[in-house]
Amino acid sequence: MSDLSALEAELSAAVSNASDLAALESVRVAALGKAGSVSALLKSLGSLSPEERRTRGPEINGLRDRLQGAIAARRERLEAQALDAKLAAEQVDLTLPPPPRRRGSVHPTMQVMDEMIAIFAELGFEVAEGPDIEDDFHNFTALNFPPKHPAREMHDTFFFPPGSDGERKLLRTHTSPVQIRTMRRSNQPPAAPWIANGQEPPIRVVVPGRVYRSDSDATHTPMFHQMEGLVIDRNIHMGHLKWTLETFSARFFEVPSVVSRFRPHHFPFTEPSAELDIQCDRSGGEVRIGQGSDWLEVLGGGMVHPKVLLNCGLDPNEWQGFAFGFGVDRLAMLKYGMPDLRDMFASDVRWLQHYGFTAFQAPNPASGLS
Ligand code: PHE
Repeated sequence: MSDLSALEAELSAAVSNASDLAALESVRVAALGKAGSVSALLKSLGSLSPEERRTRGPEINGLRDRLQGAIAARRERLEAQALDAKLAAEQVDLTLPPPPRRRGSVHPTMQVMDEMIAIFAELGFEVAEGPDIEDDFHNFTALNFPPKHPAREMHDTFFFPPGSDGERKLLRTHTSPVQIRTMRRSNQPPAAPWIANGQEPPIRVVVPGRVYRSDSDATHTPMFHQMEGLVIDRNIHMGHLKWTLETFSARFFEVPSVVSRFRPHHFPFTEPSAELDIQCDRSGGEVRIGQGSDWLEVLGGGMVHPKVLLNCGLDPNEWQGFAFGFGVDRLAMLKYGMPDLRDMFASDVRWLQHYGFTAFQAPNPASGLS
């Protein structure tokens, strides 16, 4: 008996002296593990006579149970102490700023498109859209490009291989086909709900969108963005176009006023056609809009050609209109100082972080555009 009491005293001292979980585990293994002292006693029961086993069995089992209980209690204590120590050591400073989080940003082209739409919306324009994959009719024929005329090549068009009907679809080379989609009333609904449907004049729309030409250098990329404008009403003339574009330019560049001039040009779908330059100052090495005596080309425009009106079922004696087309990326470069157009579409995250806008900088003319 005394051998058991001595063992128990020794083991419970070892349990209470175990100063951490690892030490406690060695005590447990030494007593209750495969080769442990208590396990050996339990094994020895098999070789005892039934009488001896009747008294010795409960003693040894009792010892094992108490020891297991003591170990479990000690483990709980040690675990609680370890947690306390960890909590004390790893204090969280709630006053520290949170680690910076990467946010997406709004691409300058999209920001500028939103700015332009906000300004034109104030002037009473709606937004109309068309498909990037166009047919020859909307991109060229209805816009009065003569058939087989080299003017079609002038746009460096990306054509698709001909379909089963022999028709070659193309990536639109400009947003002007949406003029046709907006003016031409048809019995067939458009292929998708967002594609402009023919409407009755008066019409006032702007058409933001991607366009494609096989061209690439510092100021040309195979994909870029345009914004078309179209106004159809009675008694419309070039003066309306000039006022609209001067008003737009002053708002867009956030200057009190902008003087513009027309330079004669040619587009098959406008007559007369012009390129519009706005007043600028280049003397300080950077371009300042709305002052100085220099000129900066910003867009092409003109009066909608009578043949285009006829192609859309409108009587040119009753309806006139003007149209214009901006290069959106070019305006973004001018306003926000990006030197190379190709960088705009290289998807370099550093560039996007530098030139991008946060989603909270949604432009509107009342609170400021940029
Ligand atoms: N579509 C022309 C271009 O891409 C621009 C333009 C639009 C000219 C509308 C006149 C009227 O070059």
